[in-house]
Amino acid sequence: MNKTKSSNIVWHHATVTRQRRENINGHKSVLLWFTGLSGSGKSTLAHAVEEALHQQGCRTFVFDGDNVRKGLCANLSFSKDDRKENIRRVGEMAKLFVEAGVIALTAFISPYREDRLRVRSMMPHGDFLEIYCTCPLSVCEDRDVKGFYAQARIGKIKEFTGISSPYEEPEKPELVVATDRLSLEQSVNEVLLLLNRRGILELSHGK
Ligand code: ADX
Repeated sequence: MNKTKSSNIVWHHATVTRQRRENINGHKSVLLWFTGLSGSGKSTLAHAVEEALHQQGCRTFVFDGDNVRKGLCANLSFSKDDRKENIRRVGEMAKLFVEAGVIALTAFISPYREDRLRVRSMMPHGDFLEIYCTCPLSVCEDRDVKGFYAQARIGKIKEFTGISSPYEEPEKPELVVATDRLSLEQSVNEVLLLLNRRGILELSHGK
């Protein structure tokens, strides 16, 4: 799936650059990559961070696993290969959004380290911020918001992350958020502090 099938392609350079878009927006663009088990709070946190940023006038967009799998990735299963393709497509899409000057937030389990590393390596240095939402499996399972863990336990859903499919923890995430111990407000603050430390919200003109 990663091989390029198209040939005779010449990249077209836009005159409206990322820098110019960032200048108009008044902030830098970046990719916030939320990873963690199903039910660990990735989507909730990503949307709450987006809300906070939007209120500050930032341009943002959230890509969410359940939503993207209804459209762009509707033809993909939860096998290792299909998850890899899912993350590749989302990574490419998010990269375009970052190029468009947007703060892109993605909420995918993205259980395989090498798939996440591939997206990191696709992005200019410092533009991929991995945020690991930690939450013990037992807590995710207790929450079981969608009822999927119960179905996975009895084998009705196959290859379910944490039950019958692996989750590989990030080795060096930019941020770890313990969603079972922090309130949503505290978790949002952790992410906003990271963005401040990285100078995302203040623009350095003439980069
Ligand atoms: S990923 O592994 O490819 O990154 P993604 O984030 O897109 O997964 O989708 C995860 C969501 O799909 C879960 O939150 C859950 O609602 C649903 N889902 C359905 N089947 C599975 C499964 N076998 N494993 C994990 N999540 C599943």
